Amino acid sequence: MKTIAVKDPGPHYQLVLDEEPLPSPGAGSVLIKVAAAGLNNADLLQARGKYPPPPGAAPILGMEVSGTVAALGEGVQDFAVGDRVCALLPGGGYAEYAVADAGSVLPVPTGIDLVEAAGLPEAAFTAWTNIVDAGRLAAGETLLVHGGTSGIGSLAIQIFAARGHTVFATAGSDAKCEACRTFGAARAINYRQQDFVAAVKDATGGKGVDVILDMVGGDYIQRNLEAAAVWGRIVNIAYQSGVTAEVNFAPMLAKRLTLAATTLRGRTPAQKRAIRDALLAQVWPGLGTRVRPAIERVFALEKAQKAHESMAAGGHVGKILLSLGVPQG
Ligand SMILES: NC(=O)c1ccc[n+]([C@@H]2O[C@H](COP(=O)([O-])OP(=O)(O)OC[C@H]3O[C@@H](n4cnc5c(N)ncnc54)[C@H](OP(=O)(O)O)[C@@H]3O)[C@@H](O)[C@H]2O)c1
Repeated sequence: MKTIAVKDPGPHYQLVLDEEPLPSPGAGSVLIKVAAAGLNNADLLQARGKYPPPPGAAPILGMEVSGTVAALGEGVQDFAVGDRVCALLPGGGYAEYAVADAGSVLPVPTGIDLVEAAGLPEAAFTAWTNIVDAGRLAAGETLLVHGGTSGIGSLAIQIFAARGHTVFATAGSDAKCEACRTFGAARAINYRQQDFVAAVKDATGGKGVDVILDMVGGDYIQRNLEAAAVWGRIVNIAYQSGVTAEVNFAPMLAKRLTLAATTLRGRTPAQKRAIRDALLAQVWPGLGTRVRPAIERVFALEKAQKAHESMAAGGHVGKILLSLGVPQG
C-alpha cells in the first residue's frame, strides 16, 4: 500500500511517498481503507524526531483518519465491512490502509462527508476529555478556549456553544477572532491587542471563567490563574509558549482552583473507548448541521510535505487534511 515516509527525521525532514505491506487487523481492531487523514501538531513533532509513537503503535505518521471498513479483526461486532467511519489512531494514518482499535472508531455523522470526517476524531476526543472529564464543565458554566481557531479549539467552541455554554476564545488576529465568533464564541479576544484576563473579567462581571482549555502555557500559566473563577478548572493540553514559568500560586489557594494537564495518545484502548462512547452519546447526534469540523484545506497524500509546511506556517483555521482520492459515496 501507498504510505508517507519521513526522510531525514529532524529539523529538515522530508515527507516522501513509500510502499509498505498491507497491515492486518488484530483481535478487537478494524482495517480502514483510508479516504483522508487529519494533520496534527504531533505529526510535525514526530517527523522532527521529537515525539516518538507510543510502544506498539505504527511508526507511520497520522493519528486520525476517515474511510470505509475493509476488514474486521477477531471479536469485532460493532462494525461491518463497508461502514463509513472515522477513527483515532496511535499512528499509521498517512497510508492507504490503517488499523484502529474498534473502541476508537466512530461512524461518519449524517451531514458530514467522508473526507471532512477525518478532521473530527483528534479534536473531538481531546476537547471532550479535557473539558468534560478533566475540566468537569457543568451546565451553565463558562468556558475559555485558547487557540480558538486551532483544530481542537474550532471544534471545542462549536460543541460547547451548541450545548448552551458561554464560550470565550483567544486567537492571534482579527480574522481568526471573527472565525471564533462564527463557531459560536460569545466573545473572541485578539491576544496580540488585548489582555485576555481583563477581557474575560469584563465579560463575566468580574467573576472569571469556570473552565479554561489551554494549549499555550508559558506566561498564560499565571494569567489563567487570574482569569479563573472561584472553583475554576484549568486544563493544559500543550505548552507552546514554554513549559517553565515563575508562578504566584496565591490565586489557586484563594479561589480553590484546579490545575490539570493531560495527553491522549498514550491512553489505554479502554480509556479511549470510554471517551468514544461519551462522544457517541453526547456529541455525535448534534454533528452535521450547526457543529462540523472546520476544514482549512485538503491536500493530496503525495503533497504531505506541503501540507506540513502549511500547518507549520500557522495561518490555518481548523483542520488540514490529506486526501487519498477515494471516491465518495
Ligand atoms: N494533550 C493532548 O492530548 C493533545 C491532543 C491533541 C493536540 N494537542 C496539542 O494541542 C495543540 C493544538 O493542536 P491542534 O492540532 O489543534 O493545533 P493547530 O491547529 O496547529 O493550532 C495551534 C494553535 O495554537 C495557537 N498558538 C500557537 N502558539 C501560540 C502562542 N504563543 N500564543 C497563543 N496561541 C498560540 C495558534 O493560534 P494563533 O494563530 O491564533 O496564535 C493555533 O490556533 C498543539 O500544541 C497540540 O500538540 C494536545
